[in-house]
Amino acid sequence: MKILVVGKGGREHAIAWKVKQSPLVKEVYIAPGNAGTEEVGINVPISATDIEGLVNFAKEKGIDLTIVGPEDPLAKGIVDAFEREGLKIFGPSKEAARLEASKVLAKNFMAKYGVPTARYGSFDNPEEAKAFVKTLGEKVVVKADGLAAGKGAFVCQSQEEALKVIDDLMVKGVLGEAGKKVVVEEFLEGEEASYMVMVDGTDYIPLPTSQDHKRLLEGDKGPNTGGMGAYSPTPVIDPEMEKRIQREVIERTLQGLAQEGIHYRGFLYAGLMLTKEGPKVLEFNVRLGDPEAQPILTRVESDLVAHIMDILEGNIKGVNLKVSPKWSLGVVIASEGYPQKPKTGKVIHGLEEVKKLPDVVVFHAGTKREGDKILTAGGRVLTVVGMGNTLKEAKEKAYEGVSKIHFEGMYYRRDIGDKAFKYLR
Ligand code: AMP
Ligand code: GLY
Repeated sequence: MKILVVGKGGREHAIAWKVKQSPLVKEVYIAPGNAGTEEVGINVPISATDIEGLVNFAKEKGIDLTIVGPEDPLAKGIVDAFEREGLKIFGPSKEAARLEASKVLAKNFMAKYGVPTARYGSFDNPEEAKAFVKTLGEKVVVKADGLAAGKGAFVCQSQEEALKVIDDLMVKGVLGEAGKKVVVEEFLEGEEASYMVMVDGTDYIPLPTSQDHKRLLEGDKGPNTGGMGAYSPTPVIDPEMEKRIQREVIERTLQGLAQEGIHYRGFLYAGLMLTKEGPKVLEFNVRLGDPEAQPILTRVESDLVAHIMDILEGNIKGVNLKVSPKWSLGVVIASEGYPQKPKTGKVIHGLEEVKKLPDVVVFHAGTKREGDKILTAGGRVLTVVGMGNTLKEAKEKAYEGVSKIHFEGMYYRRDIGDKAFKYLR
């Protein structure tokens, strides 16, 4: 088979790496890819959102299956466009992708179908949004309605700060159209976790549990990022909690989508806050998480391509996903200045050395090749994944890998996975 992976991040490198292991697969193409995906397949210089370009490429090359990494092409209707041409693609339709692309729609959907989530109001009028803030506690969360590349959610420490954010988004328009409508919601206390499944209609295959580290700084401080590291499985989701997430979140969501007449197919990601009252959804993503995909996919032992083909052929019940009992932990190495203004163009050293380490895999994100050098080319640069029989071992492996890598201004958190240890005693 010929497979096309759409995207250029660490998640897409992990997907391409996993796909390449399938005995069904002869060729892997990645559009546009990075310096790491070049090692598992062929990079194609077509942007992830150039849907027409991707359709034409898939037709010309005779691509048998396309797997989409990021949300933007999904929100723009890549799946609809491929299916119109009779091309096989794994991901939700444009309509289904609105679950991620519009926070207002997602919240209204959750309220309608009894999916637990934070108490909220949605507004297109700043004065009404401000009045609602006053009905909440001291800490308030304000979210732009539209896609904002992970920069659309503001956890405000005071009501005053929330009022200012509302002005910035709705009056000053700092996020453009994405912030013209907002969701204002109560602040939830608890432990955050990620839960992902592969879906066909109301049937689903659970993927391994994981936990992201969204904040830039150690101890979960500083601004939100796309994610600074993740590990799998996470003990914060025990078997009982997992059953609850499946019943209260995943199944209600899939039944709600079916009732809306939307056939959902693809990955579905629930970003959760595990509160005293149970799991509550912070957000849905219509794709795999990044960096969660990196530790998750390194644990998947069975053939991802075979599973996706089974799902596309209407045989999700035949999927027997095999997952390694090992732990996997990924540390993101970012550029100086990430997430605001990452500095790029720095030479990355040590990538060959890290390849010699057993149980360590490096996935590239913002990297590019120039001659015989690999340079940084984005905010998040690499995810170094370590595997082990315990979380501690996986962490040691990952950081051993990190220690081999150097570039000017590189930054990473040293505490990835630490919040899990208290659950393991
Ligand atoms: P979102 O884009 O909705 O996932 O929000 C980004 C991040 O903000 C989440 O990963 C949480 O860390 C935090 N967050 C969002 N909503 C809430 C909430 N209601 N209570 C507490 N933290 C939140
Ligand atoms: N790591 C969070 C996300 O992919 O949205």
